[in-house]
Amino acid sequence: MTTLERERPSNVKRTSDSSIQPCTLVIFGGSGDLTRRKLFPAVYNLILDGLLPENYAVVGIGRKTWSHEDFRHVAKESIEKFSRQAFQQGPWEEFARRLHYVRGSINDSTLYQELRSRIENVETQFDLPGHRIFYLAIPPTSFATACQGLEQAGLIVPPDRADRASRVIVEKPIGHDLASAKAVNATIAEVFDESQIYRIDHYLGKETVQNIMVLRFANSIFEPIWNHKYIDHVQITVSEEEGIGTRAPYYEEAGALRDMVQNHILQLLSLIAMEPPYSLDSDVVRDARMEVLRCLHPIRGKDVEQTTVRAQYSHGTLNDQDVPGYRREEGVRPDSTIETYVALKCRVENWRWSGVPFYLRTGKAMPRRASEIAVQFKDIPEILFNADPAARQAPNLLTLRIQPQEGMALRIMSKIPRSRARTHPVEMNFNYGDAFSAPSPEAYERLLLDVMAGDASLFMRRDAVEASWTWVTDILEGWKAHGSRWLPEYSAGTWGPVEADKLIESDGRTWRLV
Ligand code: BG6
Repeated sequence: MTTLERERPSNVKRTSDSSIQPCTLVIFGGSGDLTRRKLFPAVYNLILDGLLPENYAVVGIGRKTWSHEDFRHVAKESIEKFSRQAFQQGPWEEFARRLHYVRGSINDSTLYQELRSRIENVETQFDLPGHRIFYLAIPPTSFATACQGLEQAGLIVPPDRADRASRVIVEKPIGHDLASAKAVNATIAEVFDESQIYRIDHYLGKETVQNIMVLRFANSIFEPIWNHKYIDHVQITVSEEEGIGTRAPYYEEAGALRDMVQNHILQLLSLIAMEPPYSLDSDVVRDARMEVLRCLHPIRGKDVEQTTVRAQYSHGTLNDQDVPGYRREEGVRPDSTIETYVALKCRVENWRWSGVPFYLRTGKAMPRRASEIAVQFKDIPEILFNADPAARQAPNLLTLRIQPQEGMALRIMSKIPRSRARTHPVEMNFNYGDAFSAPSPEAYERLLLDVMAGDASLFMRRDAVEASWTWVTDILEGWKAHGSRWLPEYSAGTWGPVEADKLIESDGRTWRLV
């Protein structure tokens, strides 16, 4: 069964799903930030929603000298702080019993023997059949050691075993360019078969992102006009208010293009631009997304300068607070040339999208947190209501709001009451919150559940990761050739540099106010 077939309205509680197997979730990086902020709360919410199988266990691995009790204490604190649903003592006690901790360094071979006996113990204690999910919430430089340690300890079974499954979940960054991404993928492939590897792009776990396929292929009215004949252009915006917080060491090596475009934004683009898959089978859906990446026109040579803008935020004001420039953030080099903003114009070179530009932009320290996709339709003919060049009608616009205020809006023109023929743009609005009573689950809830069910639809396949790095690496190389001279600034709390406005305005279009 695939992700989409398992879907129910979000206000309907699902109590059991036979495709979700009892398992042991083993988390490398068990004492780390991702586990506290995302993984503990995700598992806990799955329990509250009755979505986990009755039998499961979680084994965390970390370098901190913690007991099982310390691990449980941290889990409780993180649930109280980050859980979507309120803390409840009963379910928590049941969860706590199933939480175990193994202390050790990934580089120490004795860790894997200890891990093996701990896993076998919990499997006996909770009557688990031996399905294991290994979550690598650790830097990619440690992937090889962890995978080899698991294999040598006999903790992984081959993919064709019907009675037991071994799966691995990998977090980004998967490389920092094409060559390194290939190396990371090759390392994991030495131990795990591609069918056992689940590469997370948490944007694919967001409800509103999954809804893109439903919108396009579960309604008959959009698909006939979803092409170059009717669509003028598409804008994808992911703006964030935050700066980089405590992540300077990572961000200084990454920048906005690697951090957001290579993965999340290209996945949004793939969903918007893909051809209808012939089934909901995970590889069929992933093939369709992959095709879009293959059709991306490479941005090389002069195109880099003409169709991309990178920028860094300088000192500014956001929500009435003074925000220091990026170079003043803790851990950032005072002469850093890393971009915190990127805007691009790209093309999907196939029949459907011929001549339709896709404008992508993302940035930190922007005025508002908002992710949206705006599909702008072509102007109506210049007769009737559009006859007067001084009073052009606003074109139809379909806006998919990924976050916040998840939903969608369709802008249409309407007659102003009592006027003879004066028009005004109005919006038809759909809000998730109004239509479905329960709040949407967090992306990690959905993604963990899918791994337990062996459904890889919402995960990145190796070829897709490498295809998106191929496209992004061309741009990175173009930027490198320009050196650090080329880095406009934008004040924190503004919508990016003027260069980004010029990029789109030179085509006679403007960025949407999100
Ligand atoms: C992460 C990036 O993948 O996504 C972060 O590394 C970014 O820099 C985050 O802030 C955005 O995710 P979301 O779900 O908050 O939009």
